[in-house]
Formats: sequence, C-alpha cells, structure tokens
Amino acid sequence: MPVINRIAEFHDAMTEWRRDIHAHPETAFEETRTSDIVANLLEEFGMEVHRGLATTGVVGTLKAGTSDHRVGLRADLDALHIHEKNTFDHRSQNDGKMHACGHDGHTTMLLGAAKYLAETKNFDGTIHFIFQPAEENEGGGRVMIEDGLFDLFPCDEIYGMHNAPGIEVGKFAVREGPFLAAFDIFEITVTGIGTHAAMPDRGIDPMIPAAQIILGLQAIPSRETSPLNAAVVSVTQVHGGDTWNVIPDTVVLRGTCRWFDKEVRDLLEPAMKRIADGIAAAHRCSAELRYERRYPATVNTPEHTGFAAGVAENLVGAGNVDRDFQPDMGSEDFAFMLEEKPGCYILIGNGPEEGGCLLHNPHYDFNDEVLPLGASYWARLAESALSKS
Ligand code: NI
Repeated sequence: MPVINRIAEFHDAMTEWRRDIHAHPETAFEETRTSDIVANLLEEFGMEVHRGLATTGVVGTLKAGTSDHRVGLRADLDALHIHEKNTFDHRSQNDGKMHACGHDGHTTMLLGAAKYLAETKNFDGTIHFIFQPAEENEGGGRVMIEDGLFDLFPCDEIYGMHNAPGIEVGKFAVREGPFLAAFDIFEITVTGIGTHAAMPDRGIDPMIPAAQIILGLQAIPSRETSPLNAAVVSVTQVHGGDTWNVIPDTVVLRGTCRWFDKEVRDLLEPAMKRIADGIAAAHRCSAELRYERRYPATVNTPEHTGFAAGVAENLVGAGNVDRDFQPDMGSEDFAFMLEEKPGCYILIGNGPEEGGCLLHNPHYDFNDEVLPLGASYWARLAESALSKS
C-alpha cells in the first residue's frame, strides 16, 4: 500500500496503541485512560498539549515556520455500550463497552500522523490535533466547541475521517455538500385512562392511538416531504403496560428522525405533533411530543473536499478515491465542527464487511492494515494545506 515510508516504520507501534485502546474502551466523557494515553504520547512527541475541553478532550498543537495558517485534524476517542463478542487477545476488558465503531483506529491514525509531523515538521503553519470525546449520541464535538475549542485553537479549516467497512482497504470515499444526515430524537407519550383489560369500556385505551400513531408517522416522509428530499422517521421503542390483564394509562413511543435539509426538519416536528394530537384526540386520549434536535447534517465544503480528495488521490491513485460517494442517513457529530469551520469529512476503507465487520456490530474490529495509510493521509493533508511553497 502506498504510504509514507517513515510512517510504515511505526506500523507495529501503532498496532500496539490501537489494540491497547481497543481492549480498554471508555464511553462518553469518561475516556480518561484513553485521554491519558493520547496526551502522554503527544507530549512525548514534543507537542504542546491542552486537556479538559469537554472533560476528556485533548488538543495537541504543533507549529513550524512563520505562516499564520492553521489546520485542525480531528479524531474521536469514545466507545459504545456493546458487549463485545470477539475472542482475540485485544478484546474489550470493560464488560458491556466496546470499540465497535473504530474510534480506537481513528485515534491511533491521528497519533501516527502526529508522531511523523512532529519529527519532520515539513510544513509552514500550525496544526491542531483534536481528540474529542463522546461522538456517539452525546455530541462531544459540540461540547468542545461550547468549551471554547475554536477560540483557544483557531482553525482556518478542519478535517475528519471515519473508517468504512464495505470499502476496500486502500480506497477512500467522499462527497462535497451534504454527506451524512442530521439526527434528531423524539418521544411521544399517549395518555388515556387505565382499566381492567376485560372491561376496556370503563377506561380509555392509549394502545389503540399509539399503534395508529406509529403507522401515521410514516405518512410524513411518504406524503408530506418531497420524495427528492430525504427524510426518515423511525419509531424504535414502544413502552406500555406491565401485565396481561391491565390496560395502562400511558404508552410511550420513542425514535429518531434523519434529514439533510433544514426545511425538512422544520416540517417534521409540527407534522409529528399534528398527527400524534389528532390521532390521540380521535380516540379520546392526549399525546405529548418531545422533539430534540441532536446533530446537524455533515456538510463538506466543495473547495476543501476537492483538496482532501486530491491528497488521497496522490497517495492511492485517482481510481481509488470515490469523489461521488452516496450520502448516508447515518450521523456524525463532526457536523458541529463543519458548521463552524469549512472542511471535509472523508471515509477510509476498512475492508470487507464479512464476518460481522460492520460498524456497531459486536464482532467488529478496526483493520490494523489501514493504520499507516490513514496516518499518511493525515500527514500529507497537513503538509499540503500548510505547504512551504
Ligand atoms: Ni463512529
């Protein structure tokens, strides 16, 4: 694989870091051990290190030359609440937690680049290596920004990378504009009057409207939003009742919405409320909607996407970089950073999905073969963005 020779020399060290982090997964805002490892290594590389943004965030800063141009490179530190089913030596030692999204690999690739760039300093400007907590669900990227990330570490452009099972090792995929969807969550509480299940007429059954609301919500993406403008409404939880012969007072529905276009989001919430209220009222119940906006859409700026794709092409050849990869309804909190700064989020192939190597699967493992390529991409990206010319 075409990688920077010096980086290939520490492939073994990177593999060791990656497996150590994999064996000790930590979840949102509790990544203290991982944060220690990252901070210690960055210091060892001779970098200025700042800790504590979003509790466990780490930022390493490297300067060379005289240019005032500043680039941010970002990796995520956190694991998921999944019980790992792998049996290899570096499997999770923290029961119920697992690096099933490859953030162990992301952290390691950025550390590899940091080591190389600190050694060679073949650039003119400032690089901020941003290691963020809590990418999964909890928006650690947003919290770092709220804690002053870009005030303390101003960046003219910002880049992120995620591994992608299903894309061959040695390939990259990217797209300008909206790349990953926004992520909202909702909860609908349907309230009636509980009663004996044998005498439903004595109370008001919330089950019937709850069932119809689940179906009714699907009319939003199929009838109300444009077929050309993606929207997903998924009910993922139904909670109500405790036993066979009691109709409960309430049924709670929960789920998630995904979209790219803010116009769609602005339509979803009132439409959900109207359908929930209307169906509940038709059955003498009431409905209460709680709608929470979580992550915005991940939108790559065209200029920086072209630049990042060019860097990847210089490494692996134009045929191995898909510049027009299909957008995904998954979500990513790097979106918050891209709302603040122009930049690009790219995918790096993690190899076949066979054997359960899908993201968030209990058999997943980051592919260590990818480490030197990912680190080389980061290094070349920084050197090119801060070129000495
Ligand atoms: Ni992830």
